[in-house]
Amino acid sequence: KRAMTKCFQLTLAIIKPHAVKMPSALHSIRRKIISNNFYVLNTKEVMLAKADAERFYGEHKQKFFYNRLVTLMSSGPLHVHILAKDNAIQSWRELMGPTKVYMAQFTQPATIRGEHGLSDTRNAVHGSDSETSAAREIDFFFPGFNVDGWRERVAKVVS
Ligand code: PPS
Repeated sequence: KRAMTKCFQLTLAIIKPHAVKMPSALHSIRRKIISNNFYVLNTKEVMLAKADAERFYGEHKQKFFYNRLVTLMSSGPLHVHILAKDNAIQSWRELMGPTKVYMAQFTQPATIRGEHGLSDTRNAVHGSDSETSAAREIDFFFPGFNVDGWRERVAKVVS
């Protein structure tokens, strides 16, 4: 019981614009979230201004794909979710599959990116890569959301 509480995590999941626009992809991604036992603590549809997308992806500013990524992420509505589960960060990243879409399609075709990824940018979903970035990303989309308070509260209910 104690171990479960200890590794209970929150993560930020984003369904990217091209997947939001495709009803079959959206439906399939939502079904995977539920069937993999994630708790959805909060959810919203957001349209990012280009400057917001630049701020969100600030750490990738030097990368060759930065402009492409920012353009995609401000091109249409995003569906943003706060997911909770034991080991949520890694668990969501496993469900997403590899960033590179050819890797996803060839090595893990049953993952979200394997099924719905179109390119390394339009790879259907995003997930936080550490507890630090989860806290930053949750605060970016849900300012004032109390990550530690919610983690304790949900861990108590499910343990
Ligand atoms: S990295 O380089 O290890 O930090 O990359 P990664 O964390 O896997 O991905 C960060 C985001 O950048 C996008 N990405 C790319 N877009 C276009 N072309 C290429 N080659 C590429 N590599 C990575 C990728 O979709 C990630 O977006 P998010 O929204 O964070 O999932």
